Amino acid sequence: MIIFDTSLIIDDIKVQGKKGETILEVARRYGINIPTLCFVENLPPYGACRLCVVEVSKGTRPPNLVASCTYEIYEDGLVVNTKSERVVKVRKMLAELLVASSPNVKIAQDIAARCGIKEVRFKMGDNRCVLCGICIRMCHERMKGMALGFVGRGIDRKVQMPFNKKSEDCILCRGCEFVCPGMEIPCQGINIPGQLCGRCLRMDDAPYCCTLGSFGCWCDHNPLASDSKKT
Ligand code: FES
Repeated sequence: MIIFDTSLIIDDIKVQGKKGETILEVARRYGINIPTLCFVENLPPYGACRLCVVEVSKGTRPPNLVASCTYEIYEDGLVVNTKSERVVKVRKMLAELLVASSPNVKIAQDIAARCGIKEVRFKMGDNRCVLCGICIRMCHERMKGMALGFVGRGIDRKVQMPFNKKSEDCILCRGCEFVCPGMEIPCQGINIPGQLCGRCLRMDDAPYCCTLGSFGCWCDHNPLASDSKKT
C-alpha cells in the first residue's frame, strides 16, 4: 500500500504523492495523460526525449519546464501544468523535430499526429533510431549486459556496440529489439520536405490508428481487420 506524504496540484486537480515519486507516476495514477517516448515501465527513467515536459512552480517561484518522468517530488505545494501554452509549444516543437528526423518510425508519426503537427518545417531525415535509449537501458538494467551504448554527439549520435564490433556481452537475447519503438511497425511515411504521411493524421475521422491496415494495425475498430477476421 502506498503511504502518501505530499500533496500537489496537477492541472488544477489536488492530488497526493509519495516523496521520491515522479510527477509522471503521480499524474498517471490520477489518469492525467502526459505523452512520453523514452519512458518505459520497469526501466529507470532516462529523460532523453523531453516529450513529457511539464511546467512546475511553487509559491512565487516562476514556472520551470521539467521532464515529468525524472522530476521527483519532495515537497508539498507544487503546482504542475501539463498543458500550458508554453508546454504545448515546446512539446509540438519536439514532436516536429522527432518526426522530421524519423518519418518512417510509426511512433514518431503517432506522436506528431497527437501533437497536432500537420506540416514539418525541417529537413526530413530517414533515421530508424529515435535515440530514446530504451534498448541500452534494457541491455544494462534488465539483462545486465553492457553490449550497447550511445556514441557520437549531435546529429552523429547513435546506438552502437563498443567499437562497433559484436560485443561478448551480447547474449543474443534480442531484448533490445523487443523494446525498440522503431522496430515496432514501420510507418510507410514519406520524406518529402514539409509533409507527413497523413495516414495517422486522419485520426479525427477514423477512431482506429490506421485506415488501410497497411501498417499492420488489426485493431477491432478497423473494418478491414474485422472483415479479415470473419473470413
Ligand atoms: S518520457 Fe520523459 S524524457 Fe522521455
